[in-house]
Amino acid sequence: MPLSRRCTLGILFVSLVLGTATPALAAGDAANGKVLSYTCLGCHGIDNYKNVYPTYSVPELYGQHAAYLVAALKEYRSGERSHATMHMQAASLSDQDIEDIAAYFAGSELKPTKATVGTPPPKVAQLCVACHGADGVGIMGDYPTLAGQHADYLARALDEYKHGDRKNAVMPSFMTAVSEAEIQEIADYYSHQTPPLRTEPRRVTILSAQ
Ligand code: HEC
Ligand code: HEC
Repeated sequence: MPLSRRCTLGILFVSLVLGTATPALAAGDAANGKVLSYTCLGCHGIDNYKNVYPTYSVPELYGQHAAYLVAALKEYRSGERSHATMHMQAASLSDQDIEDIAAYFAGSELKPTKATVGTPPPKVAQLCVACHGADGVGIMGDYPTLAGQHADYLARALDEYKHGDRKNAVMPSFMTAVSEAEIQEIADYYSHQTPPLRTEPRRVTILSAQ
């Protein structure tokens, strides 16, 4: 290995070690996140794009809380949340990349922070509103916003928590008493709230220019 290359690696190593001594990441850079998200929009940027086997809608990300997006991406990266495609997508992302991507999808002024409640929540969802809000906007960054999320994605997530396929310290315990019929009711309720999470449109012009 040429000396200069070894020096570069040495510096990289030192900066990595020093890096761990300063754990605070720079706040997410939404502009860089937009660049990094180019491939993501191949699925998340197409309205009603479906996961195949099993078939359900790819979740809406635009307007979601940044803290939740960061947690979700780190869980896919580590494999704690299992989904082969999303693991592949997240595997090569650094912590800073994830912060940047989350800042981009979270948006700022476009967040549905004042969603309308619409019809009263079904009885069974009265437990849920303590964290996810009666308006479907998570009351804290760690609690995902559900307003306007695809109903089939919500139902699938709830089913996974109920049957232990998606692990989490909080959610599964809330699902034990919820029946399959009630899962559909809840998914229907949250998916109809506005203003919803959205699909950030794929940049077709950039695509065709390449
Ligand atoms: C080939 C299609 C595809 C691509 C490309 C893709 N995703 Fe996904 N993504 C999915 C599917 C399907 C799910 C739902 C997985 C599940 O059920 O856990 C998902 C889930 C997610 C979630 C969880 C959302 C939630 O509400 O919990 C996040 C965050 C996410 N993707 C971000 C990204 C980012 C960032 C990229 C690019 C680096 C990306 N995805 C690329 C298909 C894709
Ligand atoms: C104590 C707070 C709390 C309560 C109460 C709660 N949740 Fe959650 N919920 C969370 C947290 C935290 C997550 C993120 C878990 C994860 O990362 O998998 C979550 C995740 C979810 C998701 C997945 C969203 C996505 O984008 O993938 C759905 C759907 C959901 N909750 C619905 C419900 C429903 C329905 C109820 C009531 C039966 C409920 N929650 C009660 C805190 C809560």
